[in-house]
Amino acid sequence: MENNPVVTQMRQLIQLIAKHNHAYYVMDQPSIEDSEYDQLFHQLKALEQQYPDLVQADSPVNKVGGKPLSKFETITHTVPMLSLGNVFNQEELFAFARRIEERLQNQKIHYDVELKFDGLAISLWYENGILTRGVTRGDGETGEVITQNIKTIRNLPKVLSSDKVAVPRLLEVRGEVLMPKAGFERLNAENEAKGEKTFANPRNAAAGSLRQLDPNIAASRPLAFYAYGIAQCEPNHGLNSMSASLEWLTNFGFAVGERHFICDSIQEVQEKYEQINQERPNLAVEIDGMVIKVDDLQQQQKLGFLSREPRWATGYKFPAVAALTTVENIDWQVGRTGTLTPVARLNPVAVGGVTVSNVTLHNIGEIHRLDVRIGDTVSVYRSGDVRCHHKLKCFK
Ligand code: IVH
Repeated sequence: MENNPVVTQMRQLIQLIAKHNHAYYVMDQPSIEDSEYDQLFHQLKALEQQYPDLVQADSPVNKVGGKPLSKFETITHTVPMLSLGNVFNQEELFAFARRIEERLQNQKIHYDVELKFDGLAISLWYENGILTRGVTRGDGETGEVITQNIKTIRNLPKVLSSDKVAVPRLLEVRGEVLMPKAGFERLNAENEAKGEKTFANPRNAAAGSLRQLDPNIAASRPLAFYAYGIAQCEPNHGLNSMSASLEWLTNFGFAVGERHFICDSIQEVQEKYEQINQERPNLAVEIDGMVIKVDDLQQQQKLGFLSREPRWATGYKFPAVAALTTVENIDWQVGRTGTLTPVARLNPVAVGGVTVSNVTLHNIGEIHRLDVRIGDTVSVYRSGDVRCHHKLKCFK
């Protein structure tokens, strides 16, 4: 078994994913782009689907990332915090809808389409209207109690009151803590001026802030909470749809996403996805896709879960803006004026909707800076530039 090339490949992928998980979740220093991480994950998932007998015991495929650290108290989630499946294109989205339609024959299905916030999943407990507990997702079963830090988040109600609806005895709200883009830029500029560590992205800034043992540090960080669901409510709120639950939460002052739609067909979902992909740079917060949910709560219940993912919801990721590939060759191109420019010939790879097989290395200095060589694995990412330059990063 050890010599089986499929097993060897699976072992390599598992080790790589574990290394990047540690950098991301524990060190707050991502070592790879999210889309590249997804790529590794999906390579492993595809191998496991093809060779189910060879699935390794420690495979991360059916687990939720992120082990709780030891410094906070940990607690078991009454309702586990599960993860979402993902689709990456229209075909997969339509297949998701077909699987739902097959199980809910002759029923009208409405889809609730939300932003997929790129922050940290958090569970909030309100007992008799008072915020008593804030817990991280952790590994999905057990999370860290970070109530003190959570209480410093300014856009989050610490006490529930409403003149429209009754305050429940117990309410568990699920949502995402993140750092809006503007606050992130400001924090990094301040840290840079002070010669302190800057954060790689808003998600890591939010994670680093919540992990502080001193709540004064969290209080000084521009964090925000966006609600996306209700895990428990006693007595029951009596609502019958996802969209109504979100609306209900706003009565207590919870923030929900800046954009949010109800669609009557999966084609309409696709249109909203394309619209938001365009609007993405103008949003106040980082998102990495959309979340598509069956709106009706009874239909959700009927659909249930498959392994650790709901059948009634999926993430719909935006196209990769970076991907991994290998350098096949390095050529010198002769320009009109006789100048020589080095060009990396790549194993063709799809990035942000185009296939990339050549990337300019500009000059010999850039080759030295990147230390790029034939056979290297490199990350190709598309800059915002319309002329579509591609940059390289080298993994050694
Ligand atoms: S609903 C059963 N809605 O995405 C899980 N999740 O990949 C239901 N996320 O851990 C989750 N935005 O933290 C939901 N509008 C949204 C979301 C959202 C971001 C995160 C969530 C979850 C992860 C799954």
